[in-house]
Amino acid sequence: MKIAVIGSNMVDLISYIDRMPIDGETLEAPEFSIGCGGKGANQAVAAASYGSDVMILTKVGDDIFADNTINNFKHYNIDTTFVERVKNISSGVAPIFVDSSGQNRILIIKGANEYLLPEDIHKAADHLKKCSLIILQLEVNLDTVYYAVQFAIKNGIRVLLNPAPANAKLDIEKIKECDFFVPNETELEFITKMPVDTDINIKKAAISLVEKGIKNIIVTMGARGSMWVSKDSVHRLNAFSVDSVDSSGAGDAFIGCFASCYVKSNDILASMYEASAFSALSVTKKGTQKSYPSYQEVQKFLAAHK
Ligand code: RIB
Ligand code: NA
Repeated sequence: MKIAVIGSNMVDLISYIDRMPIDGETLEAPEFSIGCGGKGANQAVAAASYGSDVMILTKVGDDIFADNTINNFKHYNIDTTFVERVKNISSGVAPIFVDSSGQNRILIIKGANEYLLPEDIHKAADHLKKCSLIILQLEVNLDTVYYAVQFAIKNGIRVLLNPAPANAKLDIEKIKECDFFVPNETELEFITKMPVDTDINIKKAAISLVEKGIKNIIVTMGARGSMWVSKDSVHRLNAFSVDSVDSSGAGDAFIGCFASCYVKSNDILASMYEASAFSALSVTKKGTQKSYPSYQEVQKFLAAHK
């Protein structure tokens, strides 16, 4: 039941701000924090925190951040056999701005993440074939993502694609065989060019992807919850209501926990429910990975919310 993440890692440079500066302005902000992030790494850490056996294929740079990122994976017992360093290139970094309502804006500089290539998947093939689920995002080369989807299908491994950040070049034809496609509303709108302002419209947009051949679309909608659309059914789950401090990395929290539950249970709705709790708890704390709860914390939260 091992999970493989093929994707990105970043160093999150989080500034907590009252507002963004305007052109030419120097503005003081209350707080700064640095932490390990990147959508791939976050999802790997969320799955590992929830008790899964996880391996990650990712590339770090040639700088002071690299060791810290590798040690962080080890701290979570994530298999780093296929974490490689790229010479003369920076690690991926993400300057993040979080306002007083907990809303975030993220810039990414991919750095070494650009160097994760199809041949790296080929090199790790024997290890990947032992996994029951592969998780992908769009912070690495699209060719790597396409290759990974085909690799998974060929080897009977289930595959989840989180199309984040939104990328206009993503070719749905090349990923339509994935088992799970997990966008947020913004990414869904971007990909389908359809409105996502209401539940009905989100459902229509998701159905348009099912019609293209994708089996399961799970749309994450932040405080509004999540929706699972497949050929046979539509299910809508409310989010747990919590005080939002910092929502950065909450989508990744949902995906990592979902994957962890799903490989054990094969139960999509039950996995979405636990993932909602996991990501709700992450929103109540500052930071991305730093804010992820443990399995025990989630079980306690769920028991209190029955
Ligand atoms: O999804 C949140 C993540 O996006 C952050 O950790 C940041 O690194 C960017 O990749
Ligand atoms: Na958080």
